[in-house]
Amino acid sequence: MHFTTLLIEPPGIDSQLINLMLAPEKFLVNKAECGPKAWNLIIESDPPDLVIVDTDLPLNGNVRIGASQLMELMSRRSGWRKIPKLVLTSDSSSSIFQQTTKKNVCAAILKPYDPRRFIQEVFNCIRQRLDAHIKEINRQHIQLGTQIKNITNMLNQGDTINFKNRLGTILAEIEDHFAFEEQYMSQHFYPDFVEHQKGHKQVLTNAAKLIDEICTSSPMIANQKIKQLSADLFDVTDDKKYIGFLYGLLESLTTHLKTVDFKE
Ligand SMILES: [Fe+2]
Ligand SMILES: [Fe+2]
Repeated sequence: MHFTTLLIEPPGIDSQLINLMLAPEKFLVNKAECGPKAWNLIIESDPPDLVIVDTDLPLNGNVRIGASQLMELMSRRSGWRKIPKLVLTSDSSSSIFQQTTKKNVCAAILKPYDPRRFIQEVFNCIRQRLDAHIKEINRQHIQLGTQIKNITNMLNQGDTINFKNRLGTILAEIEDHFAFEEQYMSQHFYPDFVEHQKGHKQVLTNAAKLIDEICTSSPMIANQKIKQLSADLFDVTDDKKYIGFLYGLLESLTTHLKTVDFKE
């Protein structure tokens, strides 16, 4: 499975155990053994699907960065904010238990823990992240559809100032949506990525041309061109294929979770 995990855990028996548990799942595991190393990784890298962080990080040396500073940093970085965090701790009174909703902590596990519970939580968190990604894609599709409907209404009402302003921003929104899909595709080895990206480029080129033409056309011609823009944008064969792939991943995570349950 093509999911990535950032493991923030000091070297030792816990780290070895987690590696042993994650290895058969074929996740890509990025490791940071101390706070400063994790800090740099969060600043420099793309966000993973899951962050596993131990609150018992050693606070030695001049730069003292612990789990709470790292959680704070991740909550300030847009790409990392919504990534689920699985927290391991040996302190039951730890404030981390109160942070579960605030900092996207999807599970806090008290050490020593049952390895099966750990793996279950890992799968649960990744499942939630994937589910959130599917929902976000659907939300963006609906939003783009609404934007196009709104510009048609503005045109029909003769609201030319708002109409031209909206047209100016809609292209950027389409571009952001495509970039959002492509980032997830490339990180999760989507097999039809190149083809899908080619389709995005084509739609974007056509959309830029159409938007230029809409701005300078009569209302009747502009209406036809908006319909054309909408048809290009929502020719969803590629997107349907991609969403099918995401549901396939979701299904495999769910099946795996059932297998872990069954073993208990
Ligand atoms: Fe797409
Ligand atoms: Fe899309």
